[in-house]
Amino acid sequence: MRGIILAGGTATRLFPLTATTSKQLLPIYDRQMIFYPLNVLVKAGIKDILIIIAPEHSGHFLNLLGSIFDKNDIRLEFKVQKIPRGLADAFLIGENFIDGDNVTMILGDNIFEDDFSEAIKNFKSGGQVFAVKVPDPERSGVVQFDDKMKAVKIVEKPKEWLSDYIIPGLYIYDSRVVDVARQVKPSARGEIEITDLHNWYLERGELTVGLIKGKWLDAGTFDSLLEAGQYVKEKKLYEKFDPIINQAILEFNQELKNLAKKKL
Ligand code: DAU
Repeated sequence: MRGIILAGGTATRLFPLTATTSKQLLPIYDRQMIFYPLNVLVKAGIKDILIIIAPEHSGHFLNLLGSIFDKNDIRLEFKVQKIPRGLADAFLIGENFIDGDNVTMILGDNIFEDDFSEAIKNFKSGGQVFAVKVPDPERSGVVQFDDKMKAVKIVEKPKEWLSDYIIPGLYIYDSRVVDVARQVKPSARGEIEITDLHNWYLERGELTVGLIKGKWLDAGTFDSLLEAGQYVKEKKLYEKFDPIINQAILEFNQELKNLAKKKL
């Protein structure tokens, strides 16, 4: 299993914060946002992780993550997405990296309270996504279930109400996803949509839609960014990180302090 974090885009809704750095490097309480999706992958035992970033602040990602896992058996790769062509583009940019393996893709601004380790470790083939009930489904990819909670339809930002369940930004696919992404035509908003990939697997009866436990936050607006920080503090979610990540952050902090005192 390979891991991809999609952490590009322009994040205009967060201007002026994102004029000086990338959204995924903004703080969620005591650590940068990107550590949350990274934690999901590391907790599931994924060792090879590709981080897709926008060109503007690419150096910031390297400063933070370039050597933080040197002591662990975790290999990070970086690729630049020049234009935000859509979520499905992650699989085209990552084609060589995926190299015929299964892949878990997570959005760099999605924060999950749930632990997906078992789902990721047990994944065999097809597609696996998750659903969560939200008060504003029209902002996301919406999934409609039948009365047995079997997914029947997935629509990106439907104009008319379809369901209160949305598919958040964590997707597990087999290697066919690369070819499927290649076939996807841009939508009316000019993006190659992740929803088209879900529907490809759904139409073939190969998509599993699980329900997530706990909170899901998409930290893409001022309010959700603030809410995420407050939630993380209140629930002490930072304590539930994989020890590899907490240790790496601790050591990096010490290194920064030593450098500030010119002791290194
Ligand atoms: O957050 C979950 C939702 O994410 C899903 O329910 C939707 O199906 C999916 O389309 C997506 O909707 P959004 O409208 O929230 O996507 P957004 O354009 O905000 O992009 C999500 C993140 O991915 C954001 O942090 C920026 C990054 N991104 C986006 C695009 C389009 C990239 O890195 N590259 C891109 O090309």
